[in-house]
Amino acid sequence: MSLTIQQPERVKKRFVFSDLQLRPFLLALVCAVILLLALTAAYAAGDRNPYAGDAKAAKAGEYEFRINCALCHGLGAHGGGRGPDLTRAQKKHVHSDEEMFQVISNGIPGTVMPSNGTNGQGVGMTDEEIWQIITYIRSVEVKAPANAAGIAAHGKELFYGDANCSLCHMVEGKGGRLGPELTAVGGSRTRESMIDSVRNPSRQLAWGLTEATKEFPQEYETVTVVTADGKQIKGVALNEDNFSVQMMDGNEQIHLLEKDKLRSFQKSRESMMPKYSPDALSDKDLQDIVAYLIGVGAK
Ligand code: HEC
Ligand code: HEC
Repeated sequence: MSLTIQQPERVKKRFVFSDLQLRPFLLALVCAVILLLALTAAYAAGDRNPYAGDAKAAKAGEYEFRINCALCHGLGAHGGGRGPDLTRAQKKHVHSDEEMFQVISNGIPGTVMPSNGTNGQGVGMTDEEIWQIITYIRSVEVKAPANAAGIAAHGKELFYGDANCSLCHMVEGKGGRLGPELTAVGGSRTRESMIDSVRNPSRQLAWGLTEATKEFPQEYETVTVVTADGKQIKGVALNEDNFSVQMMDGNEQIHLLEKDKLRSFQKSRESMMPKYSPDALSDKDLQDIVAYLIGVGAK
């Protein structure tokens, strides 16, 4: 009986801070804060955009942008089939100029956004040129974020329902695998280019696998083969080299085939994705699906 009363009191006592215990703790905290402030100041002084707001630097940056970035981000930085609109005030990965510098220097792992000097960006840019490009991007940013057209909730229903998109596409872990995973597509491509992907799938095939050893990423080309025993398989190319091809068929079965063992091997740039005409999917419904993808991509 007496034990149960004494026990909690002994325990409580241990956690009370006496003055003696508190003082070194406060001192350490103050030191840590001072150190942190000193470090951020040093960092900012070294890495601040030396051209912020400079119109001449923005002009030079525009020229650099056309050579190195417009292929994906479009002329005028309005976005294209391979990269997001950079004139949006609200960006996904970057807020400050310093963060933008990091992204342009190092790329964004797991996406096609390349690091400086690789993959279509030609020779590496100097720090100065990167700051000029950032100054240019800031100069073309629109200040008010555009309102999303379309009703995302309805778009989601269509995506997993009547429009059949989820038969071939996965979003946030749900759906099929024949087509590209679309969780990030809304954040990395423009509204217009996504609409075009649905209305004209074959105009520009999506990029699949990117590999350091490859000059160009693998595209989702359609492959039709006849194997030695006469079986025909049609699917999308996942990876291909001179001797072999890895493909996925309509049942999501993956085949790794040696080309010289095949009876026939044909590649085509006609997408496996059906072309959705406005009769099959109205403009309004497509807007809703795109609004859904943009919402998911912004997370
Ligand atoms: C091969 C295509 C490609 C090239 C070339 C490219 N980018 Fe990108 N970039 C992308 C993609 C795709 C993303 C979006 C990645 C994601 O979020 O999925 C991106 C993202 C970005 C972002 C972040 C946007 C945000 O919303 O946070 C910035 C900034 C950027 N790129 C700047 C540049 C600049 C500047 C250049 C030229 C020096 C360049 N990019 C070249 C494809 C490219
Ligand atoms: C029969 C399978 C199939 C169906 C159904 C389908 N897709 Fe696709 N989709 C693909 C394949 C394969 C690709 C890659 C080739 C290409 O770019 O056309 C693709 C590509 C895309 C791309 C380009 C992705 C990128 O990374 O650039 C988008 C966007 C897209 N589909 C959206 C949709 C939407 C929205 C629907 C429903 C309205 C849909 N798809 C229905 C198979 C399909």
